[in-house]
Formats: sequence, structure tokens, C-alpha cells
Amino acid sequence: MSPFKRTLVTSALPYANGEIHLGHLAGAYLPADIYVRFLRLRGEDVLYICGTDEYGVPITLTAEKLGITPKELVDRNHASIKRSFAAFGMSFDNFSQTSRPIHTETARAFFLDLHRQGVFKQKTTDQFFSPSQDRFLADRYIEGVCPRCGSDGARGDQCEKCGSSLDPTELIDPRNAQDGSPLELRQTTHWFLPLGDWQDRLKEFLAGHPDWKENVLRYCQGWFADGLQDRAMTRDLAWGVPVPLPDHEGKVMFVWFEAPIGYISATREWAAARGEPEAWRTWWQQADTRLVHFIGKDNIFFHALLFPAMLMAHSEPYVLPDNVPANEFLNLEGQKLSTSRGFAVWLPEYLEKFGPDPLRYTLARNLPETRDMNFTWEGFLARNNSELGNNFGNLINRVFTFIHKYFEGKVPRWSDGALTDLDRRALAEVEADLATWAACLERFEIKGAVEAAFHAGQVGNRYFDESAPFKTRKDDVARCEQSLGVIIQILRMLCVMLAPVVPFAMQKLWSWLGMPGDLWREGWAAGRLPIEAGRPLGTPEILFPRIEQEQIQAESERLRRLLDG
Ligand code: MF3
Ligand code: ZN
Repeated sequence: MSPFKRTLVTSALPYANGEIHLGHLAGAYLPADIYVRFLRLRGEDVLYICGTDEYGVPITLTAEKLGITPKELVDRNHASIKRSFAAFGMSFDNFSQTSRPIHTETARAFFLDLHRQGVFKQKTTDQFFSPSQDRFLADRYIEGVCPRCGSDGARGDQCEKCGSSLDPTELIDPRNAQDGSPLELRQTTHWFLPLGDWQDRLKEFLAGHPDWKENVLRYCQGWFADGLQDRAMTRDLAWGVPVPLPDHEGKVMFVWFEAPIGYISATREWAAARGEPEAWRTWWQQADTRLVHFIGKDNIFFHALLFPAMLMAHSEPYVLPDNVPANEFLNLEGQKLSTSRGFAVWLPEYLEKFGPDPLRYTLARNLPETRDMNFTWEGFLARNNSELGNNFGNLINRVFTFIHKYFEGKVPRWSDGALTDLDRRALAEVEADLATWAACLERFEIKGAVEAAFHAGQVGNRYFDESAPFKTRKDDVARCEQSLGVIIQILRMLCVMLAPVVPFAMQKLWSWLGMPGDLWREGWAAGRLPIEAGRPLGTPEILFPRIEQEQIQAESERLRRLLDG
């Protein structure tokens, strides 16, 4: 028996500094949405939380470039990200913003709780200050000559030429990367989280989760081997959550301190909107809540170590993540994505041309669960046409059309008692696929679950050909009806298996099959019950339209031009 009564699922809060692209979707969003939909259709208590991550230097710089305030920028981007996520079928229970007052308040209270317990260490260090911009600079915005390889243009955090990671004070001839102006070292005081103090507790915490993905565990072991260091939790910046202490004008919280608290703020906001402002505590402070963070691999440190340490440090009891399924990266046409070069596929642009389901399906089949994966437009077309179209769409269409033509659109007469070996074998295979599907999803193996669904589709097609209702209709009507009845049962199970992946299409199939209840609450239970003879069926339409070569031509050419030029 699981000790858990409910599951709180989060997806990494996307930066409100641009649009969502396919790399994001494959990393932290689509797998989480599929998982959440799976739990919901099993009738479990689940809350799915996300929002935009709105502070930090890159947002200030973009806003300056556009001549608007950072708040205007993030509001604009938030609205647009929210819109395209909705069109893609992301089923968040709340999609918030870290620039909202509820987050400021939650983050301040969290910071103060740690501060009052004396958790932070105050340290004064030398940092580069830019007189031309009248501000301290983040490491990335400092440029100079690399002390290791001597090449110019190294950044304060690392040298791209030789790959060394650097401290900005090591740079020779440091200057402001934006305008080349000279810098001054100035003293500044910050609050540090002595992460080393939590190393043993974090180790023990991870030892309790041997089932986590290998990449996550391996990564954390690496951090332990190096020894966790003090980390500054405050910054000298204008755009952020102000540090709630006297004499801290101009200081804000480090984004990686306050952004994960955004999960809590967004839960509080959700609870308040339901008129139960304290209900967030059930999800964050009761030990029978299971917390799952979906992230990309670049977020492992913050979700598997930093945020758990913060939660442990808080004086109130918080739940710790029960799992942190982190994905590897998605490449595009065989190359690394690069947003600065425009080498990416943006969700809003995709959605102007194609529907959400084909992309959800293609990405789900190619999720970078254990290694980097690749998206190609050719592959997208092939998956849509041969798998969604031929394997699933045709089967559904053939069966419904046939029943409407010859059996008045009602489930033909069939019964358990009349099952032949052929019938029984097909049903057993699909039921085995359904079991595999559920077991895979429980382990966050989304790709395996989709494979099981694909296999069930193949079984359905093979059964249709072998039982050949188009032939038996003429010489053995009873047999014909029986096999159509069996295929309807196969479609019912297929509908459940595909629902989290292609929810738009399966919502339709669910209603055409005349299924009782809400797919997203009772799908699993209802999907286990046979569909009785005589039930009227809906009239189907094409679920997965073919995509033609011309439609993807422009897309792949644009990417190829970027690669060549
Ligand atoms: N914005 C970060 C990224 O896209 C993720 C933040 S996750 C949070 O990599 F937990 F900090 F919110
Ligand atoms: Zn170098």
C-alpha cells in the first residue's frame, strides 16, 4: 500500500523571457502532463502546479532593450506562454507568476523563517560593480581574458573557448560585457546558505530514494564528492524579491532561492481561489502528500539538493520530493538547440500550422528520458502519418464506418461466452499492454507507456484483418458481429492508453464510444468495463489528418538555412 493520499506535481517554472520551445516541452512539461492525466483518469487526488519564473538579470536586460519595464515584459510573456500551453493541452491546476504579491509574501516569509533560526551566514565579499550602469554585475555579464587559455571574451562564470569554469575575479582585464566599460571591485554583503551543513541529511534523504532516475542520483553523488559549498542566497539587483531585512536596500533574493518557493506560492494562490486559503498546507505539509518535480537535467541541483535543503531548514514540516524525474535534452535535426541563434521550434508558431496532438505524440515517442533525443520534421511527419494516422486513426475509422454502414451504428451483438481463441488472444494481448502501460507510467517511463499503446493498436489492426468482419459479414453474420464487439473493447482500452498523450482526439473517441462519466476522473474504471451490445456509437470524423510533405518543407528549410549560414 502506498503511504500517500495525494500527489502534487510540479513542472519547472519556465523563464518569462521568451516563448516555449520543443526542448522545454520534452523536458519538463509534456511528461508531467501525461503523468498527471494518468493519475487523474485513475481518479487519484492530484494537483498540478506551474507558473512563470519572472526575476533575474536576463529579464531586466530584455526589458531594457525593448524600452519597457520588467513587469510589463513578464506579464506579456506570461500571457503568451499561458495561452500556448493551454492550446497544447497542458492541464495545470494553476499557472501563476513569481512577480505576484502572493509570491513576494511567501518568499519573504520563507526567507525570514530561515533567517530567524540563524540558518544563513552573512559574508562580505568583493564583487564587480559597473559605474557606467551603476550596478553590480552578475558573473555572466563580465568579460575578460581567460587566465587559463589566454583567449579574450571569456565570461565571469566560464570560458567558452577552453571550457574552464571561472570566478570573475580571475579574469584578466575584466570589463562590462555589454558596453566594454571598466569595472570596480566593491565590497558587498550577502546571506549565504551553508549547504555543506545539509550534506549528510541530503545524502540520507537520497539514500531513501534508490528508485530515482540514475542520471539524477549520479549527478547528486558528484556534488557530494566535491562537497557542498556555501551559496549566496541574495544578490545586488533591482528586479527580484526584496530581501526582507532592514538595511538591505537594493538587495533581492537569488532567483534559485525564490523561484522554487513559487511552487508553494502557486499552491497558495490555487487554494485561495477556491476559498480555502489554508488548504495549501495539505499539499505541502502533510506527510501523506507525494511531491514530484518534473525538470530538465540542468535543474537537478536546484530540485534534488538546494530546494530540499531549504525545505528541511524551514521550522515547519514540509514534504520533500518523492521523485525528481529529470529528462535529458532534445536536439533538433541532429543539432543542439540554440535560442540565441533562433535554432529552435517555438510552440506558438508550431500551433499556427499544426494541431497539438501530433506534436504531443511525436515528442512522447521521442522523450529524452535516459539520453538526449532528436526531433526532426521528417520524423514528425512519419509518426503522424504512419502511427497516428495508419495505426490508430484508420483502425478507429474502419471500425466505426463499418458499424454505421451495416449495423445501424450500434455495438453489434457479442458476448463473453462466444469468444474464440483468436478473440481471447487479442483481448489478452491488449489487456497485457494496458497493464504494461500503467506500470510504465507509475515509474515515469512515459515512452514505454506510449510503446505499449502503440502495440495495442497493432494488435487491433491485426485482429481486424484476421477476424475479417468485411468477409464474415456475407457468410457468418454472428461471427462478424462478435469480432466487431471485440474490436470495440480493444478501442475502449486503446482510448484509455492514448488519452494522456493525445487528449484532444481521445476525448472525442471517448464520447463516440458512449463511455459513461468523465474520462479524467473515471477513465480507468470505466475503461475496465465491457461495452455492451446495442450501445449507440457516435459518428466519427478523421482524428489524425495526414500531414503532407509540403507542410513541413518550409519548417525544415528554415532550420537547414540556420545550420548552413
Ligand atoms: N526557470 C528555470 C528554468 O527554466 C526553472 C525554474 S524551476 C524553479 O531552467 F523551481 F526554480 F522554479
Ligand atoms: Zn579559456
